[in-house]
Amino acid sequence: MNFDERTFCGDIGEDDVGKTVMLAGWVDALRDHGEVLFIHLRDRTGVIQVVFSPRETPESVCLEAANLRSEYCITVTGRIVRRDPATVNPHISTGAVEVVVSGLFIINRAENLPFPISEKAMVAGAALKKGETVAEDLRLKYRYLDLRRPSMQENLLKRHRIFQTLRSYLDSQGFIEIETPILTRSTPEGARDYLVPSRLRPQHFYALPQSPQLFKQLLMLSGFERYFQLARCFRDEDPRPNRQPEFTQLDLEASFIDEEFIYRHVEEMTVRIFAIGGISLPRPFPRMTWSEAMDRFGADRPDLRFGFSFIDATDLFRETSYGIFRKIVDAGGHIKGINVKGQSEKLSKNILQNDYAKTIVPSLGGRGMTWVRVADGRLESNIVQFFNEAEQQAIKERFQGEDGDVLIMIADSSYRLVCQVLGLLRLHLAERLELIRQAEYRPLWITDFPLFEATEKGVTSTHHPFTSPDRNDFDPRNKDELLSLKSRAYDLVMNGEELGGGSIRISEPAVQRKIFQALDLSDEEIEEKFGFFLRAFSYGAPPHGGLALGMDRVVSMILGTPSIREVIAFPKNRSAYCPLTEAPSMVDRRQLAELRLFDLGVDRVILRK
Ligand code: AMO
Repeated sequence: MNFDERTFCGDIGEDDVGKTVMLAGWVDALRDHGEVLFIHLRDRTGVIQVVFSPRETPESVCLEAANLRSEYCITVTGRIVRRDPATVNPHISTGAVEVVVSGLFIINRAENLPFPISEKAMVAGAALKKGETVAEDLRLKYRYLDLRRPSMQENLLKRHRIFQTLRSYLDSQGFIEIETPILTRSTPEGARDYLVPSRLRPQHFYALPQSPQLFKQLLMLSGFERYFQLARCFRDEDPRPNRQPEFTQLDLEASFIDEEFIYRHVEEMTVRIFAIGGISLPRPFPRMTWSEAMDRFGADRPDLRFGFSFIDATDLFRETSYGIFRKIVDAGGHIKGINVKGQSEKLSKNILQNDYAKTIVPSLGGRGMTWVRVADGRLESNIVQFFNEAEQQAIKERFQGEDGDVLIMIADSSYRLVCQVLGLLRLHLAERLELIRQAEYRPLWITDFPLFEATEKGVTSTHHPFTSPDRNDFDPRNKDELLSLKSRAYDLVMNGEELGGGSIRISEPAVQRKIFQALDLSDEEIEEKFGFFLRAFSYGAPPHGGLALGMDRVVSMILGTPSIREVIAFPKNRSAYCPLTEAPSMVDRRQLAELRLFDLGVDRVILRK
């Protein structure tokens, strides 16, 4: 069969009326009107109605057409005619025309389908069908069929368009696309590694990269100056809705640059790719320090699509006779709150006390919640009698409380806990009260992160250990000093989601060594894990920095899909399992033996803990 003459379904329009065409694709839907059979023929470009009518189609073709079923792969030949205006189908772009068939060839038949694929109604006014109600594991098991659905094709096509836009922008700015190894050593990004046993070096393992971090820095040491890669990364983390065990980053790195260079290029690219989804982003992207984000929103990726910024009320209660507050303030604790503006009708005393104070706040990690409603210019609550007149007035003023407002306060000796709980509560309330403006996109750079976070024994890197501190004269053994250091890291967040992150890196080997010491790595461990990396820095390292955008999250946000799995061709399910290939799977004992996985040796296991 010669497909050179083939016309694509979606390309046909009213200008083509009268032409004879050969089409190839799948039977999307059928409508049998007694003698006349209508089908929707679908290829990658769209759907067109094809008519088998005994008046114009040879009898043998009509007989063959009676065998057609959904998703048969066929070719048809026919003449394009204008449809009667009453039968124009607004659901498809070719709805003003149809093809009257003269020839049909069934290339391959299809079994009964596990779920419907067709999304286009055949008649005007009919409801559109989408596969959302099909169980996700069934969709994933038959992903190749799921991907036939026009909405899934559209997702992957847009993903492709977004990737090409990034490639062409970066190319125009002198960035070079370079691939880095998949079989490599562990890269410290904070997750567990996927390990691959080596057959040729028994008892040794490759790790799949959690990111190309080490290699992209080495490429800067090699003098490429501007690198990028649409890189596959692998992280064995606990599943979450916006996480996949393997995912794609737009990874980039550049030399002789500072933060402004990264902000400028990443903003430009982000604006361009969101425009592909018809979303116009506000520019320049605002910036907020990590401390301000925690202090005002209790999150390092605040959702700015609604208000509820925190109000500090600690100082109002220094002399209060409300025992709980007084004890916390006396112990150096904190009281912060939010004004849930104009929502008292939806937040009854019962909801506030029984749902929020007793159930929701404890489930968010808080010890309690104080609420006050403003009505007729006065405060009302179960504890308002403990506040004197001056305190009540001060609360009203500080929260700018007006009739109909609900003021919510969280108090605790730990500042971090107050911010965290109030941050989660802020989100919970906004969702419940449907206050999140869904059509808004609010990008934000978060800057000045702490370099380290405290662990039971010492400290751990907030980002990764190659991030430059804001100063180099620190003592790597002084935990308090380490915890006071800020980093030159930045995250790009939007609508409460972290889209990307990066930093200006350490380029002095002595500083890098100090960071490893701060992380409590011995000289031997530093040499064993990062010797090759540190050595590279001893040959004239340029200053450099970079960033990685999580492309699955970015594409999912641009397309407004309910999960990142909708924009990945073959994702794993929520349990990191692939229902299509049934990976991960058991393997042959022989294979394990060949890899010498039966005799790893107790000594070695102990040695490596
Ligand atoms: P980071 O670890 O912040 O930085 O990762 C960058 C971005 O990748 C996305 N991401 C994920 N997406 C889907 N599934 C996952 N499991 C997952 N984990 C991360 C997020 C995140 O913001 N090497 C550094 C970058 C740098 O410093 O240049 C890095 O990987 O959107």
